[in-house]
Amino acid sequence: MNPSPHTEQTVYLNSKFMPMNDSKISTQDRGFLFGDGVYEVIPVYNGQLFRFKEHLQRLKNSLAAVSISNPLTDSEWLSLLNTLIEKHPWQNQYIYLQVTRGIQMQRDHLPAENLTPTVYAYTNPLKLVAAHIIENGINVITLEDIRWLKCDIKAITLLPNVMMKLAAKAQNADDAILVSREGLITEGTASNAFMVKDGTIFTPPISHQLLPGITREVIERIASAHNIPLIEQDITEAMLNEADEIWLSSSTKEALSVTTLNGHAVGTGKPGAIWKKINTYYQAYKQDFIKKQP
Ligand code: PDD
Repeated sequence: MNPSPHTEQTVYLNSKFMPMNDSKISTQDRGFLFGDGVYEVIPVYNGQLFRFKEHLQRLKNSLAAVSISNPLTDSEWLSLLNTLIEKHPWQNQYIYLQVTRGIQMQRDHLPAENLTPTVYAYTNPLKLVAAHIIENGINVITLEDIRWLKCDIKAITLLPNVMMKLAAKAQNADDAILVSREGLITEGTASNAFMVKDGTIFTPPISHQLLPGITREVIERIASAHNIPLIEQDITEAMLNEADEIWLSSSTKEALSVTTLNGHAVGTGKPGAIWKKINTYYQAYKQDFIKKQP
């Protein structure tokens, strides 16, 4: 049996770097007991953090929204993440970082004052989505969005997302696109959603019902720079059913085509022309970013 690569990974926990196997947290950590914490996932290309400023700002927004004080300065965050990256050989990585409210010995929904946040970060090799998946797209179902009303916070409390992923899998789907109680598309279980109709890209506007995705924002910039019409607009399930193209976006999957929706082909049943353009520009944007790094 091959040794698990995870046992050889170095992680960061509360100011120290250590082997993953040695990283331990208290059972009384509020992250463990209450899911009381927030997180970020940041891609690393050629050893460089991609859109670090934006991810850090979103982390700060999440921390402020749940009243956890930011435990580190910007330069401390940057330096710890860069050290973590340097300790691993992978050219492309993705960082997972998490801040919980900290340890409180007496379980109480009301947080004690002046807790010390628990800071955890580790890195993984970032593998590109398999070529056949990029070429063929994925199979998605729509599901009722069963989450809370603060989906703009990147909270570690992901039980509804896990349940919806399981529900998608039970229906032999790769993922789900979520529909609010008002009948509007919010996002994917771990991604933002886009659709294309008659050459125009649509994505739901930022609200408390979805995460302001960093990849979503890059796609918006790319569309604007290349004069591809993109409108932030509420998307009904009926509109989605009539879409020529549907995509999901995230830091680890970039822009990924959805070619089957609820068992029916989306458009031609193959990734569409607008997705191809955006994906080509996205790859070029990444290459440009890599070239600009020291
Ligand atoms: N998830 N919406 C949700 C609910 C997400 O969990 C994510 C990302 C996104 C896309 O955000 P971004 O483009 O900044 O990655 C949208 C990460 C990848 C995760 O939980 O692993």
